[in-house]
Amino acid sequence: MRLDKLLSDMNIGTRKEIKTLVRKGEVLVDGVPVKDPGAAVSGNEVIICRGKQVTYSRHEYYMMNKPAGVISASEDPKQETVLDLMPDDRRKDLFPVGRLDKDTVGLLLISNDGDLAHRLLSPKSHVDKVYFARVDGQVTQEDVRLFKEGLLVDESLTALPAELEIRSSTARQSEVLITIREGKFHQIKRMFQAVGKEVTYLKRLSMGPLVLDPDLEEGACRPLTEAELAALKEC
Ligand code: URA
Repeated sequence: MRLDKLLSDMNIGTRKEIKTLVRKGEVLVDGVPVKDPGAAVSGNEVIICRGKQVTYSRHEYYMMNKPAGVISASEDPKQETVLDLMPDDRRKDLFPVGRLDKDTVGLLLISNDGDLAHRLLSPKSHVDKVYFARVDGQVTQEDVRLFKEGLLVDESLTALPAELEIRSSTARQSEVLITIREGKFHQIKRMFQAVGKEVTYLKRLSMGPLVLDPDLEEGACRPLTEAELAALKEC
């Protein structure tokens, strides 16, 4: 890749600032000043920029506990995004892998690995996603059966079979765990609407082998552990 792209991905400055730095000879690649911003680098070199080493990793992976009120996007002119919650010096090519609604909380993977994202989100890969939901009204065994059969939600969505586990259920409110294998727009809310109920709280607990860290506060994120990453790459 180009030297200026690497430095820009690692958030060293704007492309213009980086070009100026490079042209001034302030960037050393393996000890040698390289003055061409377009010079080819592999990412395995020792790169020093203004006396400070730039540690390059091709891919980065973070687990976020998404809070309510922020959108699952990389940038937005008006609304706060999940990336705005990350440190300012984060690399610039990160994106949320999949979307949670603005009011949904819980597990969100953030990465710059397009191949992994594609694999996890592909409709063909059927990665299990488990959510905790609070629902207005009484969720019944009939709902469990309908969800298991594959619910006709509306003209644009017939849901794949989903597992519904009732944790508590009264005439007023129910708490359930729901496992879905796809991720259509407002999927869980629409599935409950189809059986005449409204989701009032939704939290994603896991995605494939990746489980939300109970010690991660809402709005916080941390890098995946090696074990988490290995499991995710295998699924
Ligand atoms: N289903 C929904 O309705 N919303 C989400 O955010 C995720 C799944």
